[in-house]
Amino acid sequence: MPQPWEIDNFLEIKNGRLHVNGVDAVELTREHGTPLFVYSEPRLRHNIERLKKAAERIDRPLKLCYAAKAMSTMGILRAVKDADCDIEVNSGGELWKALEAGFTGGQIIFNGTSKEVWEIEMAVENEIYAIQVDSLFELSLIEQTAEGLGKTANVSLRLVPEIKSNTHSGLQTALLTSKFGMMPDEAFDAFRKYKNSPHLNMAGIHLHIGSQNPDPAAYTEAFRMLFDSMMRINAEAGVKLSHVNLGGGFPVNYLRHDAAASQFPTEQREMFSADFEPADAIGNAWTEVKNFAADCNTEHLLDNLTILLEPGRSIIADAGICLTTVRNAKRRPVFNSALRTPHSAFDDWLLTDAGFNILLSMETYKWYYHLISAERAAEEHNTPYKLAGPLCDGGDVYFDHEGSGRLPDHRLLPENVEPGEILALLNCGAYSLAQAMQYNGRFLPPVMLVKENKSAEMIRRRESLEDLVQNDLA
Ligand SMILES: Cc1ncc(COP(=O)(O)O)c(C=O)c1O
Repeated sequence: MPQPWEIDNFLEIKNGRLHVNGVDAVELTREHGTPLFVYSEPRLRHNIERLKKAAERIDRPLKLCYAAKAMSTMGILRAVKDADCDIEVNSGGELWKALEAGFTGGQIIFNGTSKEVWEIEMAVENEIYAIQVDSLFELSLIEQTAEGLGKTANVSLRLVPEIKSNTHSGLQTALLTSKFGMMPDEAFDAFRKYKNSPHLNMAGIHLHIGSQNPDPAAYTEAFRMLFDSMMRINAEAGVKLSHVNLGGGFPVNYLRHDAAASQFPTEQREMFSADFEPADAIGNAWTEVKNFAADCNTEHLLDNLTILLEPGRSIIADAGICLTTVRNAKRRPVFNSALRTPHSAFDDWLLTDAGFNILLSMETYKWYYHLISAERAAEEHNTPYKLAGPLCDGGDVYFDHEGSGRLPDHRLLPENVEPGEILALLNCGAYSLAQAMQYNGRFLPPVMLVKENKSAEMIRRRESLEDLVQNDLA
């Protein structure tokens, strides 16, 4: 019987052990230690192909831009480029990395709320596809900067669509109270004011409704909002846009294993187990907008329109796992606060070498990553443990320590787990190493990329003691 988390030809159990595209995960840890991130290039390609299916549902070009913020180790960026996918960056640093990885300007879009002049200059000089503009102030700064360079900047204005989705509050980006973008009225004024600027190509409009969106209908609402704006921009400023960008946010099913799902409150469960085909969501949004345009006699606004998407999580999250070793174990009586006496039962604690320094969302958003024993993957996982990372921080745990019910109370593993056993956290390829830090003097871990031909290449080395002080000047 396969485990519910197994995925054919990708994440499988062989000889009782976890394998990634045929490569033994435990063997990798014997060679390279833990914590260790292992990514699958075939899975990354599969996820990109899945998203590209949206192109079949719209009779217009689709430009798919991987959101580099999700994971931007150079080997991953190169794998994304080799899979014929364009890229979204969020800073001059990510822009530089994208160019170093071989993306051309025409393949790059640039988001961000606080762009500096040097970043704008780099974007304009490299003639990127679009700088996504966060405010009217920024738009005038981009115009001045492009003028200084004697160039024209391609821009797309980021709108506040006021769309709420049922994701984590920290992942909402499209509300009036969110920090991103400009009000539609400001954008209409901007199109009127700058449409003839020789230094701005006012090419498109953009929104992003947030990450891990459980509701596919949000994309229809978003596209309708953008199309309403396109009609107004055309009517009031006489500008016909060449692209619209519907953002990213397609969900990953973090609960592909029924046992854990029942332990979550409904709202959390719906968010973590969200699962729909991006192509269906975009296809439905397109049909709705096309019909609406026909009703309004504005179909010409859709001619030659390119649709952009900028997904991160849905490309990279389930392509990456984190392998960790149990470094310590202890048993502690369960404290019964009602009686204020120790309860008779005990909790078995396992302390690993993977903490929130490399999986920050576990602390900031109480994110859930399914956990298995990589060594005993086929055994029943029904023994409860309290799992925690290595950091000197009481919040560095893999369970609900706040009594908020947002995570399970215990994690389930085979019986008799002891120090030395290799565990695997699944689906943790997105927003993990990308947000990692050296807190507590911990080295950032290495990254292996497993290829189609079952070879595993190290694409990032493990840090050393010297890396901990390399930037210190005194
Ligand atoms: C503007 C923008 N685009 C794209 C993304 C990628 O979102 P996701 O990784 O959920 O697809 C984000 C992430 O928050 C974002 O802020």
